Amino acid sequence: MMFPRTAAIAALISLGSFAPLVSAKGSNRTLPTPVLVDFDDDGVLGGLFLPSISGPRSQIVVYMMHAEQDYTSFSACTELPKRGFTVFCANNDASKSGYMSDLNFEDIMTEVDQGMSYLRDLTEIEKVVILGHSGGGAMMAQYPNIAENGVSACRGSEKLYQCSDALADLEPADGLMLLYAIYGLSTMTLLSLNPAIIDETSGSKLNQSLNLFNSTNGFVNTNSEYTEDFKEAFQNGVVARSNRIINHAQERLKEIEAGNG
Ligand SMILES: *[C@@H]1O[C@H](CO)[C@@H](O)[C@H](O)[C@H]1NC(C)=O
Ligand SMILES: *[C@@H]1O[C@H](CO)[C@@H](O)[C@H](O)[C@H]1NC(C)=O
Ligand SMILES: *[C@@H]1O[C@H](CO)[C@@H](O)[C@H](O)[C@H]1NC(C)=O
Repeated sequence: MMFPRTAAIAALISLGSFAPLVSAKGSNRTLPTPVLVDFDDDGVLGGLFLPSISGPRSQIVVYMMHAEQDYTSFSACTELPKRGFTVFCANNDASKSGYMSDLNFEDIMTEVDQGMSYLRDLTEIEKVVILGHSGGGAMMAQYPNIAENGVSACRGSEKLYQCSDALADLEPADGLMLLYAIYGLSTMTLLSLNPAIIDETSGSKLNQSLNLFNSTNGFVNTNSEYTEDFKEAFQNGVVARSNRIINHAQERLKEIEAGNG
């Protein structure tokens, strides 16, 4: 059995059935049912997936979360326990509506931290390794950066948003695993911009001289060949649109901070 160190969490867990660690060595029995816990006392759930084989790896928990998706049923939640690891697959508070309009990294960082505290409280767990997959790689790399380097890691004149003191004391993890991680949200956003978009409220008002899919610019269904001039104009257009979007975001932030947004 894994016993929590604090009474508050013990009370929480006693609400659900708490599956014991399986002790049969190397057997191929089915995985125990994950234990879902409300790890932040606010309805944010995480599933503790216990390993189906015993051994020292069971004292290592791999902790995963994704910013834009619910990862409580991600494949690694069940594949890593088959290989002896304990896994904590958690969901954050964001709606996952697809619009990402309530995606707040500052909140998500504190939710990752609450999951860390929950895991540090489990007596059987010696190490916590956080895992970021795909887009989750950006947030799960940001977390240890801030936890280990302090808020200076999320503040600076080059940052669009200065993080608050709420991120001052994040519990550091013991390790970080990145699986097919993205380059980071700023880079991915830049690389995803279509410079031909003229009007941010419409995807169909295009500047044809920057349109990747216009044959005049070199588009061919099977094997496009763009001119050097077009490539240069395209890249300059990406920078111009990125700056337009950043300016818009900064203006909106100013309004929000002034209580007008
Ligand atoms: C369990 O795994 C062993 C070794 O991989 C295999 O030989 C055996 O057939 C499996 N048993 C069952 C019931 O799946
Ligand atoms: C379209 O893009 C070209 C090349 O960047 C630029 O010179 C022109 O001003 C743009 N036109 C509009 C309407 O934005
Ligand atoms: C392709 O670009 C050219 C030159 O900018 C423009 O005249 C033409 O209308 C565009 N084609 C389409 C299908 O929009």
